[in-house]
Amino acid sequence: MTSLLHRPRRLRRSAALRSLVREVHLTRDDFVLPLFVCAGSSVRREVSSMPGVYNLSVDEVTKEASAAFDMGVRGVILFGLPETKDELATGAYVEDGVVQKAIRSIRDSVPEMIIIADTCLCEYTSHGHCGVVRDDEVLNDESLELIARTALSQAEAGADIVAPSAMMDGQVSAIRETLDASGFENTAIMAYAVKYASGFYGPFREAADSAPAFGDRRAYQMDPPNAREAMREAELDYSEGADILMVKPATVYLDILKMVRDRFDVPLAAYHVSGEYALIKAAAQKGWIDERRVMMETLTSIKRAGADIILTYFARDAIKALKSDEL
Ligand code: PBG
Repeated sequence: MTSLLHRPRRLRRSAALRSLVREVHLTRDDFVLPLFVCAGSSVRREVSSMPGVYNLSVDEVTKEASAAFDMGVRGVILFGLPETKDELATGAYVEDGVVQKAIRSIRDSVPEMIIIADTCLCEYTSHGHCGVVRDDEVLNDESLELIARTALSQAEAGADIVAPSAMMDGQVSAIRETLDASGFENTAIMAYAVKYASGFYGPFREAADSAPAFGDRRAYQMDPPNAREAMREAELDYSEGADILMVKPATVYLDILKMVRDRFDVPLAAYHVSGEYALIKAAAQKGWIDERRVMMETLTSIKRAGADIILTYFARDAIKALKSDEL
């Protein structure tokens, strides 16, 4: 028998030993479930590229949030599909907008649920861009006022956190100033600080009906090869008053997540986006991978890279898997 001082396998011999020395544990508190609110009532329409994800009218989204809470989900992030869209994204900030109504309704029936509102204009503009458009250009400063107005209407409806995702420069400070001026100094901001122009948002654009009618988002979302610029974006949002920083997408940007974790001492969120979800779902449907295993391995990698909060369409399934104690 060879005498080996170091045998890492000693601590891998049983499930209990592996669990004892495990460095990262997912918990139900890590997850935020995205929900898509649409107009009408009793609407429950599955998104074809995202099995298990639905467009839900206010009554249905309230039931969905309540069922999710009963399963252990503690936070939701809401996206809206308004009845009508226009150039100025009116549906994003009207008092009776779909998201505003859903916030009130969920707050009523599930008071303890953490309600996050995605603050963007793309689902509400006729052209599908995240800001005001003139001569085929998305104008920065003109968009800020509408973004801030959207955040304010979400805070008024009762959102705990607003989450600006338009990638307009100065959006965090515009929102902070507007919220504070109206007495919402306790509404938190989760900034999509580092949001890449990503092909992984494809299924979301079907879910939220928000694909741009012309061009793409490369003139405002980040260029995928850039890491130093990501630190600059994070620094800007941090200094503008973001309470939580986010990196998005998650798995193909784990290096960025780790860099933000190492440099900033605010809670860090990662968005495991629609395309990342769809890839796993599709391969699992073909029987090519074990869905639960790949899901948990993926979510664990996001936490291991430094995320405190994981926004994922898998939130319920992950909590279910945790309960059954299988990784
Ligand atoms: C809105 C927004 C998008 C996502 C979150 N907020 C889409 C986009 O930027 O095109 C993507 C989420 C996902 O893919 O799951 N701007």
